[in-house]
Amino acid sequence: MSAPVFSLAPMAGFSDSVFRRICGELGADFAVSEMISAVALAHRDKKTARLAKIEAGEPPVVLQIFGHDPSVMAEAAELLLSGDYPGCGYAAPPVGIDLNMGCPMKKIVNNGDGCALMNAPALAARIIEAVKPVCVRHGVPLCVKFRAGWDRVTAPDFARTAAEAGADKITLHCRTREQMYAPCADPSVAEAVANALQKLGPGVPLPKLFGNGDVDSPAAARRYFDAGCVGAAVGRAALGNPWLFSELKNGERFSPPAREEIVSMILRIVRESAAAYGEVVGVRESRGRAACLLRGLRGSAALRDRLNRAATVAQFESILAEWLAI
Ligand SMILES: Cc1cc2nc3c(=O)[nH]c(=O)nc-3n(C[C@H](O)[C@H](O)[C@H](O)COP(=O)(O)O)c2cc1C
Repeated sequence: MSAPVFSLAPMAGFSDSVFRRICGELGADFAVSEMISAVALAHRDKKTARLAKIEAGEPPVVLQIFGHDPSVMAEAAELLLSGDYPGCGYAAPPVGIDLNMGCPMKKIVNNGDGCALMNAPALAARIIEAVKPVCVRHGVPLCVKFRAGWDRVTAPDFARTAAEAGADKITLHCRTREQMYAPCADPSVAEAVANALQKLGPGVPLPKLFGNGDVDSPAAARRYFDAGCVGAAVGRAALGNPWLFSELKNGERFSPPAREEIVSMILRIVRESAAAYGEVVGVRESRGRAACLLRGLRGSAALRDRLNRAATVAQFESILAEWLAI
């Protein structure tokens, strides 16, 4: 059996090029971008270009799109894969397209996007069929990410539909839309999907199955591999602990990083974000990331509060230096 593969899961507001590069250096085999609106891409929206940037030093990057119109989704995939999009630039080209069929947010599902597509499997299949030839033309796999179901488990049937329509890879978040992000993800859903995929008709290639939900240790990942997954996508646990990828890849025992290491990680994030997006945006976006890294540490609530009011990289630096000196 080949070695398990670990990816950084797509996370809007978090899995940008700065964080993807960090996770890649720490062992993530590849990373998925934040979700990108296919409609915005089709309208050549300038702000959207930033989401489609791939910078030097990143691990292989899959770009994720969301939407519900098959032709718009195909157009968006073509724009991204050809790099024919104003403002998007690739240090290395994307290694795949991921279709978001799992986002639970109201503003997304009320528009028929994200997890709403699990209630419309025929439309979901048409989207996959429309995007597939674009991926084939560019020689990259088509990935589909979805949940256990809407309010009950329908993922095994949905996975078969996705495979028959041409999905090369499936990432399964083992919670329903109704469950949002709690309670715990249930890897037995991955097992049910793996079994359903084994029964695909002749001529339908078996998609690679990635498990997702609560992977925060090698033991948690193992539950997905035992269920028949070849890889696991790591979401929230990586935000507070990007070092987790080294542990997952090398089976190293996790020793919590020292405060100095956490501070250097935060400083790296704020400096690289400021360089990438300008100081105002870079500092603003680093606050949430710093909060994830500091969670649970002594005195971190007051520190987070101060960082939330910091407006420059220099202020971040001095607040963190003071905290280290305590
Ligand atoms: C802040 C945040 C943003 C997310 N954004 C996306 C997204 O853009 N696309 C997507 O498919 N999933 C998104 N997700 C879902 C994650 O990819 C993942 O499926 C979910 O968090 C479960 O994995 P975990 O338990 O390891 O966090 C997001 C999750 C979080 C917490």
